[in-house]
Amino acid sequence: MSVKVQIVEVGPRDGLQNESAIVPAEAKIALIHKLLDAGLERIEASSFVNPRWIPQLADAEEVLRGILPVEKKGVQISALVPNVRGLERARQCGLDEIALFMSASESHNRKNINKSIAETFPVLAEVAKEALALGMRVRGYVSTVFGCPYEGDVPVDNSRRVTDALLEMGVYEVSLGDTIGVATPKQVHEIFAELVKDVTTERLAGHFHDTRGTGLANVVAALEEGIRTFDSSIGGLGGCPYAPGAAGNISTEDLVYMLHGMGYETGVDLNRLTEAGAYIQEQLGRELSSKVLKANLAK
Ligand code: HMG
Ligand code: MG
Repeated sequence: MSVKVQIVEVGPRDGLQNESAIVPAEAKIALIHKLLDAGLERIEASSFVNPRWIPQLADAEEVLRGILPVEKKGVQISALVPNVRGLERARQCGLDEIALFMSASESHNRKNINKSIAETFPVLAEVAKEALALGMRVRGYVSTVFGCPYEGDVPVDNSRRVTDALLEMGVYEVSLGDTIGVATPKQVHEIFAELVKDVTTERLAGHFHDTRGTGLANVVAALEEGIRTFDSSIGGLGGCPYAPGAAGNISTEDLVYMLHGMGYETGVDLNRLTEAGAYIQEQLGRELSSKVLKANLAK
């Protein structure tokens, strides 16, 4: 029996938050339906952050109301939440999963959420406590694990400290982010090998941006360390608006193609995924970076 790899589709959030064009809510809703039709079971649909910071996702309520409730069994729709205000917005839309986020490096944390790391812990702990009491699932992200745009190298102990803190708050999984796409496979081996000493592989995920073309190679390195959950964006959309020079996430089409070729099971239909990629490419009016999307559309 082949081994299952879980894919967390973050295109509607991580992807679209960094597009200069603001995609209308109806198109976001249509995209998410196409992603569900392709068999994706975990989708990060939007962000309940300050809309002044991320105007691209200011329509989070409209998008979530357009897709919830999802009747299909086993589907998890999530959204980023930075504080209790965001949790309240998520709850009012009927979401039952949220994702908390913070950085392993001080400067990126401050630029991204306007707080020091120490100030962020109690804010997120309160959100997690309230969300868990409401019966929600809570995921966590650690950004800048493999490098920071302001500080350069980030000691693995920083990432361990933030990962442990998030797990202690009750998150079921921590996604380790290469926010600016600087990681290489050797570093991915080293960092995951270090972190899995204390945390089981089932509770960790890889979140690679493909700024320098090492994204899929980094996935292979993480697979070799036992990681079985990866975040990716349809078409390779994406970035982080508070990480200068960051490019898109690894593309979901490229990830699925590679995983299937390696004998892993994802539950995703690549033809239908191509339809979703083609749809958002047309909406944005620019060629997306996914190589498999390009190859499949040229057939
Ligand atoms: P702040 O300005 O320090 O917040 O921002 P504040 O608490 O002082 O409030 C200021 C104003 O924001 C108030 O409004 C609040 O009501 C409002 P005013 O009184 O001035 O009219 N506000 C909100 N409004 C709606 N929803 C909310 C909310 N919270 C406050 N939830 C804050 C702090 C965290 C809110 C802000 O810094 C923020 O929104 N940051 C988000 C940045 C972001 O979304 N970055 C991208 C996502 S992270 C990422 O991409 C990395 C990742 O992909 C992994 C990786 O690649 O590494 C996850
Ligand atoms: Mg990201």
